[in-house]
Amino acid sequence: MKKIFDVHAHYDDEAFDDDREFLIASMLEKEIAGVINGATDIESALFGVELAGKYKGFYTSAGYHPDTIHRAPEDYIERLAQVLKDPAVVAVGEIGLDYHWDTSPRDFQRACFEKQLALAKEFDLPVVVHDREAHGDTLELLKKYRPKGIVHCFSGSAELAEQIIRLGMSISLGGAVTFKNARKGIEVAKTVPLDRLMLETDAPYMAPVPFRGKRCDSRMIKYTAEKIAEIRNISVDELLEKNMENARLVFGVSV
Ligand code: NI
Repeated sequence: MKKIFDVHAHYDDEAFDDDREFLIASMLEKEIAGVINGATDIESALFGVELAGKYKGFYTSAGYHPDTIHRAPEDYIERLAQVLKDPAVVAVGEIGLDYHWDTSPRDFQRACFEKQLALAKEFDLPVVVHDREAHGDTLELLKKYRPKGIVHCFSGSAELAEQIIRLGMSISLGGAVTFKNARKGIEVAKTVPLDRLMLETDAPYMAPVPFRGKRCDSRMIKYTAEKIAEIRNISVDELLEKNMENARLVFGVSV
């Protein structure tokens, strides 16, 4: 039985231009039960919907990433609202704040994050949140809107994870927990309740050790799962099954 579900990857990325369809088809046929593609703009959301139409187990989110929001058309909320009506779209995302790249002014990022959090509420959909070096403001807006969903590639402390969990959300961890010096990530992997922990690759980025620096795909989630299972002293199977169950509950995916 296929037990791997990847809650966050980017198969619309150009890194997959040469073998995208072959790779997705073969992964979903063999070891991967499902994937949620993380959209970064309208075009990638529509591309995700198109792929979802071809492959069972393939789902997508729809939203504007803080690093692309400066390119969004003026009517992006209305356009996203149209895309969200498609049953292949299981979340609003990825949305959030990126104070590392600061591609657009921070007050603009916050305003756009708020608009998309409100949109998720309106459609009763979970969110996929991107928080890079913006922990305080992210937490504040999550407290204000109380969405369902995940903070993906979580990079905060165990204390912050606890606060996010108290809001009813989940934490998603990726390949970074396998890196050397992953002290904070390991603490989070150890302490987050199992029913609030999910697994992702963020492919093509963040390949776990021993593939660090290479192009990542959903099959590599197994190395992240092995590391977290070891930290928690549980079996890899138990972790993978719990991850699937959590993904079903939060995103309503049928895998
Ligand atoms: Ni991502």
